[in-house]
Amino acid sequence: MKLLVRGVTVVDPATGIRPHTDILIEDGVIAEMADFLPSGDAQILQADGWLCAPGLVDMHVHLRDPGQTYKEDIYSGCRAAAAGGVTAVACMPNTTPAADSPAIIREILQKAETADARVYPVAAITKGLAGEEQTDFAALKAAGAVAVSDDGRPVPTAGMMQRAMLDARLEGLSVLSHSEDLSLVRGGIINAGETAQKLGVRGISRAAEEVAVAREVAIAGAENLPIHICHVSTAGSVAIIRDAKRRGVPVTCETAPHYFSLTDDLLVTRDANYRMNPPLRTAADVAAIIEGIKDGTIDAIATDHAPHSAEDKADFETAPNGVVGLETSLSAGITWLVNPGHITLKKLIELMSANPTAILGVPGGSVAVGQPADLVLFDTDTAWTVEPDKLVSKSKNTPYAGKRLTGRVMATVCRGKIVYELGE
Ligand code: DOR
Ligand code: ZN
Repeated sequence: MKLLVRGVTVVDPATGIRPHTDILIEDGVIAEMADFLPSGDAQILQADGWLCAPGLVDMHVHLRDPGQTYKEDIYSGCRAAAAGGVTAVACMPNTTPAADSPAIIREILQKAETADARVYPVAAITKGLAGEEQTDFAALKAAGAVAVSDDGRPVPTAGMMQRAMLDARLEGLSVLSHSEDLSLVRGGIINAGETAQKLGVRGISRAAEEVAVAREVAIAGAENLPIHICHVSTAGSVAIIRDAKRRGVPVTCETAPHYFSLTDDLLVTRDANYRMNPPLRTAADVAAIIEGIKDGTIDAIATDHAPHSAEDKADFETAPNGVVGLETSLSAGITWLVNPGHITLKKLIELMSANPTAILGVPGGSVAVGQPADLVLFDTDTAWTVEPDKLVSKSKNTPYAGKRLTGRVMATVCRGKIVYELGE
């Protein structure tokens, strides 16, 4: 099977910008790149004038499968990924039952074989995410897990986390920390601050996140064990991680688009589609997140794609946390990071593709001969309005409803196959 992608400008984190390029794909691998390539018997994807980057790798996605497939399943989640230019997702283990056994990891991978994106399962650190008994990392790795996490819940003690980090390193698994101290959350549902006071709801202190980030950094530093911090949302977390990196601590971290684009005053509308965990913070936090992205403190942008149905989200105070993100992440990055001049497009692709592959230890992240043919084709000029009903995901809980975004995914190629074309 051959596919010829015609006339793109390649944006590659490793090699930079290369205009007017044809890319020939054979059997799922990039076979040739040149100014002009004859089509021969290849299928042609006319892409003149579009940008072409390595497929995005979203290292924090909730696919809800098994167990909550009314919100999302592996196929619908991967279709949403394709619509967002995302060719690989790491899926979190807070499914029902939790992804804490080799059998569930194998079941996820088997379903994913025919899905529109690559799926890298993240296995639970503790059985049932209950924070008591560690899972069998060797068996989970052998079944195909690439990382471990109790995401959705923190690992309750520093001692358990230290052992998990040690065992994970032995098995070659990344550890992804949902950094939250539940003893500081105490029923809070949005950021502790003016808006929470105005609404008369309990707030979540930034300390709930920062105490946990400091804990993970202390273990990583003392034991020289790698740790990845999920969904960083506060200025304090950025400062702790920046300082740790300066001291040589093997820590990496991600943030999500909503933390560099939205603030907690939006919650005065009592719309649960602005509720996620960690919560939206203040303008000062947004500025610090952007600074962290610019200076390399923040390594990756991941969505924390967390589908919930309209019924689940109906009541502001009791709704579950989480927002969908796969279909808006590239546009959000272009709109709030690249267009205002905070970072270059090349740096955005590094944050959304090359760096996540490195942290997870999976292939991808580069448009080059011999690399997997996972590509996002997009432009940075087309503006569009986010209409929840038009999202491909089964769930429509986007915090960008009605927002005008710039930059649009035109087509997505995964494993050498066109998995998405705008308007098709
Ligand atoms: O907002 C969130 N949603 N944060 C989490 O940690 C879990 C996630 C979910 O599973 O819905
Ligand atoms: Zn989390």
